[in-house]
Amino acid sequence: GPEAAQLVASRLLDVPDFPKPGVMFKDLMPLFADGAAFREVIDGIIAYHGRDSFDTVAGIEARGFVLAAAVAYATGVGVVPVRKAGKLPRATHSASYALEYGEATLEVHQDAFTAGHRVLVLDDVLATGGTAEATLDLVERAGGTVAGFTVLLELGFLEGRKRLAPRPVHALLTV
Ligand code: PRP
Ligand code: MG
Repeated sequence: GPEAAQLVASRLLDVPDFPKPGVMFKDLMPLFADGAAFREVIDGIIAYHGRDSFDTVAGIEARGFVLAAAVAYATGVGVVPVRKAGKLPRATHSASYALEYGEATLEVHQDAFTAGHRVLVLDDVLATGGTAEATLDLVERAGGTVAGFTVLLELGFLEGRKRLAPRPVHALLTV
């Protein structure tokens, strides 16, 4: 709701030319660092989806890990990391995608999800949607069912939501 959007908006820093010239980095670390705001955001994500609507939470490296761990702990489910290439030790599924800046590959362990488990996917920012598209694909390839996808911040002008359609995107704040 409007309170969550305001929380995110008030604790978001725009960092010009990071990680490369011409890119405006959206830094949500101030929100993570504010205990009361962080808790409210986590509780808001759980309330939005409903605590019985998912069996597992998946976090996208790197800031999605923080959100996913908190939601998992608060709801008593497990947490699965979706990682950058080469970080996971066992057999993985992998998906490559073009990022707003550069290219990347994400991986998930092949045995990460119990078949049919409903997976809530979390990340900090939705930009072009490449990261999210790859992740949702990986969740399904690893046997999960996507129960929902939440980001703290959506950059509306990059149209990531269209790219993910018809899968719904829940964003606490859209700019
Ligand atoms: C940023 C952000 C999202 C992604 C969104 O992560 O945290 O995960 O970009 O971009 P997209 O919608 O255009 O794919 P980044 O790839 O910079 O890596 P990091 O989270 O490990 O810092
Ligand atoms: Mg990221």
